[in-house]
Amino acid sequence: MNNFTYHNPVRIEFGRGTIARLGKLIARDRKVVLIYGKGSIKSNNVYQQVTRALEKHAVTEFSGVESNPEYETCLRAVAEIKKCKGDFLLAVGGGSVLDATKFIAAAAHFTGAQPWDLMEHKARIGSAMQLGCVITVPATGSEMNSSFVISRRSTGQKLPLSSTRVYPQFSILDPETTFTLSEAQLSNGIVDAMVHVLEQYVSKESKAALQDRQAEAVLLTLIERASAILANPPDYDARADFMWCSTNALNGLISCGVSEDWSTHMIGHELTALHGMDHGRTLAVVLPALWKHQIKVKTPRLAHYAKRVWGLDGEGRSEEELARMAIEKTEAFFERIGVATRLSRYNITAGQCQSIADRIDMLGFKLGEYGAIGGPEVKAILKLAE
Ligand code: NZQ
Ligand code: ZN
Repeated sequence: MNNFTYHNPVRIEFGRGTIARLGKLIARDRKVVLIYGKGSIKSNNVYQQVTRALEKHAVTEFSGVESNPEYETCLRAVAEIKKCKGDFLLAVGGGSVLDATKFIAAAAHFTGAQPWDLMEHKARIGSAMQLGCVITVPATGSEMNSSFVISRRSTGQKLPLSSTRVYPQFSILDPETTFTLSEAQLSNGIVDAMVHVLEQYVSKESKAALQDRQAEAVLLTLIERASAILANPPDYDARADFMWCSTNALNGLISCGVSEDWSTHMIGHELTALHGMDHGRTLAVVLPALWKHQIKVKTPRLAHYAKRVWGLDGEGRSEEELARMAIEKTEAFFERIGVATRLSRYNITAGQCQSIADRIDMLGFKLGEYGAIGGPEVKAILKLAE
């Protein structure tokens, strides 16, 4: 097992009715800026619960954060916060609203020329405003991690960043807030959470038995509970399982002491930037193709995954055979929950993705646990995904 430091300061409030705790979680003298998206929180009673819980606080609102949050929108939020002298940010919504809020928290304290420099690693986050969140989409794990992803339409970029300064002080996870999500949003979330686990699990051979089992627990729970998670009318306990799985998939615990491979996410972010595809869908397209392309180095872990998660019998089967079966099982599962795994199903050809390979080439480093995936490999992976 590799050495590691694990420190996660996020307080979790989980369950029905927990939004009512907001009034106690934020000190009475704070000037709260409530940040949300395009209005889903008003149609599912979340907004009403939040404002009721904060009726004794001074609250200003900033709304309109879009999916795959935009840099320009975040800059407008920073200007509003400075105007109203807000000193605590409350994100209410999905991963996009929370990611935007993390960036806004850092940008509000930034003293350099342009906060985009943070996203391009040309400047560092020295400090950030305090923030908390009510998460309404199980998927990203943003509620218990220090990462965020910001898009910039004018340059066609979508970049991830991580900083311990932007951990939420607390996150409220009420599974009932998910009752208004569509089947497509739910299945995107299942894929996102699974791929988070898989990018930490199908990499170099692991010598971390506990982390292996923790990763498998999240994967097995999502697979076993998928139809209950997607059920309508919603099943509270299944949604609770889904919400807690998504958080555990990316709160840093299962990556302790193991190697990671975030290449599917990096290529997926480029597909969203170029073609506007939903985040979860990009992952369902890229992951199987990437595994097929990288089969030589990934065979031992894919074979392990085949046995542990898909219950495939290793008796009389080669590791290569098991690895291929694991890829097929994963693809079939994504398709079964309604997430297409081929570019052609989104009316995109590999030829339309050339700029993605060029951008990966320009990163200055190669992707993958062995640092072996550059532009030409990405081009081949996208061809396999066609
Ligand atoms: O804008 P509103 O009206 O709120 O509508 C949203 C949005 O249209 C809607 N929604 C949210 N909660 C709802 C709801 N609709 C009905 N009922 C509810 N309870 O859902 C739509 C999508 O929301 P979004 O926040 O974009 O989804 P998600 O949570 O999947 O977040 C995706 C973003 O997170 C980034 C992705 O790249 C993408 O930009 N990621 C962030 C990560 C992190 N911070 O660690 C890791 C992930 O890998 C991911 O990259
Ligand atoms: Zn993701």
